[in-house]
Amino acid sequence: MEFSFPVTKTSRPKQKPDQNNLVFGMTFTDHMFEMTYDPERGWHDGKIVPYGPLMLEPSTIVLHYAQMMFEGLKAYKAKDGRILLFRPEKNAERANISNERMCIPLIDEKLMVEAIKQLVRVDRDWVPEAEGTSLYIRPFIIATDPYIGLRPSKTFKFYIILSPVGDYYKGGITPTRIYVEDKYVRAVVGGTGFAKVGGNYAASIKAQEEAGKKGFTQVLWLDGVERKYVEEIGTSNAFFKIDGEVLTPPLTGTILPGVTRDSVIHLLRHWGIKVAEKRFTIQEVYDAHAAGKLEEVFATGTAAVISPVGELCWKGITINVNNNQMGQCSRRLYDTITGIQYGKISDEFGWTVAV
Ligand code: COI
Repeated sequence: MEFSFPVTKTSRPKQKPDQNNLVFGMTFTDHMFEMTYDPERGWHDGKIVPYGPLMLEPSTIVLHYAQMMFEGLKAYKAKDGRILLFRPEKNAERANISNERMCIPLIDEKLMVEAIKQLVRVDRDWVPEAEGTSLYIRPFIIATDPYIGLRPSKTFKFYIILSPVGDYYKGGITPTRIYVEDKYVRAVVGGTGFAKVGGNYAASIKAQEEAGKKGFTQVLWLDGVERKYVEEIGTSNAFFKIDGEVLTPPLTGTILPGVTRDSVIHLLRHWGIKVAEKRFTIQEVYDAHAAGKLEEVFATGTAAVISPVGELCWKGITINVNNNQMGQCSRRLYDTITGIQYGKISDEFGWTVAV
């Protein structure tokens, strides 16, 4: 094996949560991965250690200027006992896209995948088996220089933590109510919208909070300049099926290049369903609805999987999508992607990696 990381086992294993009542992102496993960067040694000293608090000086760069990045992927328990990862090399590739944007030293992508595998192996008993559950994997890198002037850190830490999870949205795949956000924006070209970095998410919290108070599940982001082009849904990529064709915004710098997004586009093309990555406006979506041509809307993401949208509200006008039901196309995508992830159907694209 090219990479092998020493393991220090916890002396106090925790009690595992009830698999049938897992709340997303609340519980963490017994171990975590940790690796250090300094200019002399580069990335070094990768190891698996007991999960626990970090010791950081209050002046640590990441706490002030958010020089960091993170990733998100899942491990799934197959019926035959195998534990599968879904396209982890895509997460490693995207980690370096984020690193490059945030002046964080690049990481060996094979090392990152291997660290994930070895950590999941150590905590394999934490991978839940109940229907719809999985082990969420959160790799992240933080800038660790104790310094409050603004410049790139010279030192970093890379961690991977694990969390057994259920559905991201409380209602599972019940269609969501989405508020079309026209006050706040998420990203502009030249910014960090395409990178998976904490700042993007911090900037989105207020809109999500306000929409939540109005009874919506999430917001649909519009472009940051004209506030008319469709961008993303909350923390997920957005897809609209209009008159037989599936549309999704292109990757022009403001949108996260989702692994699920890429898999959905691949599957749709494979099935011969027309799919276009192109800019379109929220007005076009409303016009399509008025013409009876808006067939389905859904969000895609690691946490959200395929999440159907049942309602959109823009400037006080609410439209219903597919009578508030999950559409045929979203259902087929959901069944196929989760089927491959859980090893229930054959993985003809070679997307899964056994741990
Ligand atoms: C993911 O889908 O993996 C994300 O990072 C979204 C996060 C808000 C849970």
